[in-house]
Amino acid sequence: MQGNLSRLRKNDLKKRQKILILGIETSCDDTCASVVEDGKVILSNVVASQHEIHGKYGGVVPELASRRHIEAIDIIINEALLQANLKMGQISAVSVSNRPGLIGSLLVGAGAAKAISYAKKIPLIAVNHLKAHLFSNFLEVPSMGAGFTGLIVSGGHTSLYSVGKNWEIKEVGHTVDDAAGEAFDKIARFLGLGYPGGPVIDRLAVKGDSAKIEMPRPMLESGDLNFSFSGLKTALIYKTKKEPDLLEESKIADLVASFQEAIVDVLVQKTFSACRQSGFEKILVSGGVAANSRLRSKFAQKADSEGIKLYIPPIKLCMDNAAMVACLGYYDYIAGNFSDLSVEVYSRSDI
Ligand code: KG4
Ligand code: ZN
Repeated sequence: MQGNLSRLRKNDLKKRQKILILGIETSCDDTCASVVEDGKVILSNVVASQHEIHGKYGGVVPELASRRHIEAIDIIINEALLQANLKMGQISAVSVSNRPGLIGSLLVGAGAAKAISYAKKIPLIAVNHLKAHLFSNFLEVPSMGAGFTGLIVSGGHTSLYSVGKNWEIKEVGHTVDDAAGEAFDKIARFLGLGYPGGPVIDRLAVKGDSAKIEMPRPMLESGDLNFSFSGLKTALIYKTKKEPDLLEESKIADLVASFQEAIVDVLVQKTFSACRQSGFEKILVSGGVAANSRLRSKFAQKADSEGIKLYIPPIKLCMDNAAMVACLGYYDYIAGNFSDLSVEVYSRSDI
């Protein structure tokens, strides 16, 4: 089958036909499908969020997530095709996140993608979810090319990458405990603010004074590019035990603003250090926490003052979505990087 598929791809490319990639993303708690044309035109980008299911537990319950994916996947894929005004027969290839993520959740997306690939005789492209986050920036600026420092900051990951001019990807730093998004979610749960925590804290922090409550800046002096957010979370909890009035309505905005400022400060400092060390002049930020308004403005200010080009996707493309999966799938399609139907899913994987 691989030989036939390669021939199909060559024909598509020769005829300069539009390359239409169906992307599928189910690595965590969002069921997502999207159709992207030529790696840059988003024809549809459908997301079925499970927040109301997991909200009452204050975090994702893996078993509930995979069950919900099973219920939603066909509907979401059909909706993505409908919104793109396409039939499955017009799709060039199907691209799916197969790593890293929750195994039960990944299996649902991968199973659907394999079935489509087999039934429609189109290439299957299994992609890395983290790399897809980086590629969300290429939807907006396809001509950007390699040679940049990448920060992926989400609920499950906080990692820094150096991406060389020939696409050599090297991880240069990562969190040694909680991811930044995880810290936002855990503090929101502790304060009874709801799930996911990042957006609620972001909104509340706007009304607060980030200089009011002193918070540590973990690992800033560590001499490496790693992060740690678990101690910051403990520091906040400890402060509220010592001074319970910080939990009063009039002070909680100051508390979360100070907490958010500490996280953003560390992310900004370490990312720009990584960029300086690599000699690149471009920074790409992606992942759910990149939706944070304070993060976006602090990164922009610093990039301006340092003469660095900064790319952060629009908020919808920061969160888990399938357009980024279809975008990365397009580049694999052009390169002829197809996956076998026996491809597996993995809970852990670096880029
Ligand atoms: O990338 P994503 O959608 O899923 C993962 O791959 O983890 O990221 C989800 C994370 C959650 O922890 C959520 O609280 C955080 O992104 N997040 C935010 C904001 N919006 C989402 N964190 C801070 N500020 C936001 N505005
Ligand atoms: Zn993600």
